[in-house]
Amino acid sequence: MRKNILLVGFMGVGKGALARELARCDEALFALDTDDMIESMTNTRIKKIFERAGEEAFRALEQKCADWLAKNVTNAVISTGGGFYKVKNLNNIGTVVYLKADFSWILNRIMSAPNAKKKLKKRPLFQDIEKAKRLFDERYEAYEKVADIIIDVSGKDTESIAKEILKEARQQ
Ligand code: S3P
Repeated sequence: MRKNILLVGFMGVGKGALARELARCDEALFALDTDDMIESMTNTRIKKIFERAGEEAFRALEQKCADWLAKNVTNAVISTGGGFYKVKNLNNIGTVVYLKADFSWILNRIMSAPNAKKKLKKRPLFQDIEKAKRLFDERYEAYEKVADIIIDVSGKDTESIAKEILKEARQQ
């Protein structure tokens, strides 16, 4: 298994929850989240970074985060923001796992969460459903291209997805 497991995929697919589950299943792994890292480094919410500095500035912070992870981190399971797959050195960080699901499944997952409003509000690129769907269509193939492992998550529970990922990642 390569040094880290990196979870990529569209907003709301469940990357954070899965990273926590993976760390629970394998005690050698520690769960990190790139959005959380950026928020703590800047002491600013992602939404505010987008409002004050714009998307390009946010992408530069993601690149800084990626460079630091590639250089300094091992034995982590890292959940990433939906656009993190664009960083230059993604595959140097670890085994890239794409969590795949179609847009309607993702939308349903977000909307059926008890805190759905909050989940939507904190995501600047999920304010308009039509626009989010277009972004999903633009990114769909790119996620597959960067992935070492593709896991279809729709209809599966978090625990069984985590087991599937660990099994596949150990063969890398
Ligand atoms: C983004 C996804 C967000 C966050 C930012 C941009 C994107 O993370 O990084 O709002 O470009 O898809 P989640 O995938 O955790 O929502």
